[in-house]
Amino acid sequence: MDLSTPPPDLYGRPRADAFIRRLTAFGDRYSPALGAPLLRRNPRRPLSRPTPPLQLVIAARRQLAPDVVELAFADPSGGPLPPWQPGAHLRLALPSGRERHYSLSGDPADRHRYRIAVRRLPEGGGGSVEVHDTLHPGARLTARRPRNGFAFCAEPAVLLLAGGIGITPLLPMAREAQRHGLDWRLVHVGRSADTLPYTDELRALDPHRVVLRTDDEHGGVPTGPELLAHAPRGAAVYCCGPAPMLAAVQRSLDGSPATALHFERFGAAPVTDGEPFAVRLGADGPTLDVPADRSALDVLREARPDLPYSCHQGFCGTCEVRLLAGRPDHRDRRLTPEQRAAGALLPCVSRAAEGETLVLDIWKESPSMPPTAPTVKAAPAFPYTERDLARFRETQQLAYHCAEQVAAWIEPGVTERQATAELRRRLVAAGVQDFFHVPFAWFGDRTAFRHFHTPLQFFAGNRRLEEGMPYVLDCAPIVDGYTADIGYGGKIGENRVWDRLAADLKVYRELILAEVRARRPLDEVYAAVDAQIAAHGYDNRHQVYPGRVIGHQVTRTTVRGPAGVNVFGFGVRTLQTLARELISERLHGRSPLWADGRSSRHVPTPGLWAVEPHIGFRGVGIKFEELLVVTEDDAYWLDDDLPHVRRWTAATAATTEPTAERTTLEATR
Ligand code: FES
Repeated sequence: MDLSTPPPDLYGRPRADAFIRRLTAFGDRYSPALGAPLLRRNPRRPLSRPTPPLQLVIAARRQLAPDVVELAFADPSGGPLPPWQPGAHLRLALPSGRERHYSLSGDPADRHRYRIAVRRLPEGGGGSVEVHDTLHPGARLTARRPRNGFAFCAEPAVLLLAGGIGITPLLPMAREAQRHGLDWRLVHVGRSADTLPYTDELRALDPHRVVLRTDDEHGGVPTGPELLAHAPRGAAVYCCGPAPMLAAVQRSLDGSPATALHFERFGAAPVTDGEPFAVRLGADGPTLDVPADRSALDVLREARPDLPYSCHQGFCGTCEVRLLAGRPDHRDRRLTPEQRAAGALLPCVSRAAEGETLVLDIWKESPSMPPTAPTVKAAPAFPYTERDLARFRETQQLAYHCAEQVAAWIEPGVTERQATAELRRRLVAAGVQDFFHVPFAWFGDRTAFRHFHTPLQFFAGNRRLEEGMPYVLDCAPIVDGYTADIGYGGKIGENRVWDRLAADLKVYRELILAEVRARRPLDEVYAAVDAQIAAHGYDNRHQVYPGRVIGHQVTRTTVRGPAGVNVFGFGVRTLQTLARELISERLHGRSPLWADGRSSRHVPTPGLWAVEPHIGFRGVGIKFEELLVVTEDDAYWLDDDLPHVRRWTAATAATTEPTAERTTLEATR
């Protein structure tokens, strides 16, 4: 697939849809004039508090190795904990105020325990020592919801490479691989057998797939080729361990049986292409030299050991400081262009050109330091309460429930128009008051938008369903202003292409979540999805939607206007809300439409996003569409109790046939 050439728009021309292009251009051009008075009259969403941190209590502690302890956390009220996937980590606030990230090593199926394992590092930054010395059962801590920057894609063949405590994210992956019946191997590397945690749990999964490789028995550390020799042919490699191990594996990937590498580092990545520069503490404070091979944070902490940090890799934001002067080379993966323009800098990774001096808003001494000016936060706060989210979830459940009812009702001979009429009838009977857009139904090769040349072709027609045909039902009901936008894929009878596409769609749900959680800009997430589609050998069909969108922001509809009236398929209230959001978001350099162009070069605005990856192969197309919750520092799917997720869950027991060679993303955190 040639990703550099844009696919044709609705009219077959190699460019984005003209209507949305003009609407966006209108917003760009006139929003400064129109937006301010509009915003004054309608103050932007009365913002509620950000997502509250998780309250956790230590339920158990055990010694896994002489210098490794495991802590199990629970909800103090005994309730279920937020869900997570293999590779996820927990950001813990330690009693001292330090924040540290620890990979979750338990089982995602256990919703009542989070487990982490921590190796004591006396020479480290103090976090591990604090965990070992002060955290005991009964202690209470706060944490952020689990995030995943190291997603497990469950490829048919995988090699898991763990260096010491790097086993923690890989243990849940091994469990998942075993559950899926994948062809997996795990190599656990360490100094000696007694230093390796979780050996019993690994062997209990399948002793024939686990290799414990210790330096004392093999006369030193393993080489990259030695580690990769364990890879099944075509395997994806997941590696977590110290920097030299990662570097050895990266260097040796070519020429090995493996085809892809996902990795997660311990601590800081080595500085690459670094030049010496200087940092100054305050406008008239001391100037410190930063050598080419050290980070500014390391140097700053020599003068100010209390400066906070956590990931050392430019994604958590803990070390953020304000830049007063100088030209930085931002190398983080977190800050938006607006935040950088406002002076935010992450010194754990960001640098400057040789000879440059960065003047930072850091005082020479920490005690009784006067408060610094607050950092400008360009992104708004998360706008919904738990109650709001519950109402959005109810609306989405209702929409999927009605789609499932229609799926059970339709049969060969039914037309698209009849299907949409039935879908609308059931939604209205269930309490739906308005629609974000009219319900759609596409049958046969129309599910892949084949030969679509005009927007009118999106509307339901007289195509009749036949045996073996795929279909897609799409609806966007509104109840009390709470909007859902869903896409339901199905088939009548046998269709093996559809089966394969439906199974592979799971990867896109995981990929999008992992990318958004890694704080990637929307256009980069879009590109990652494109790359995965190309790797699967499928066609990207969401590029055919107006504006080439893979998603759009969903807000609570509060405007007045005639319900049930639509223009070009969109409700009048919807168009008012869309126009308001477009103007408001463009004022802040963002867009409520998630596409692959310049206007999507920002991380998603906190709130709700309807996301609809739509893939096709020849005349078969399939998609899901559902709401993604994006908070200031995290993201999660609003609901996992949805038909496509249930289908994947039910299929986990079945072995996935490796029928296509896959190239997968590299994920780091
Ligand atoms: S320590 Fe995490 S971004 Fe710098």
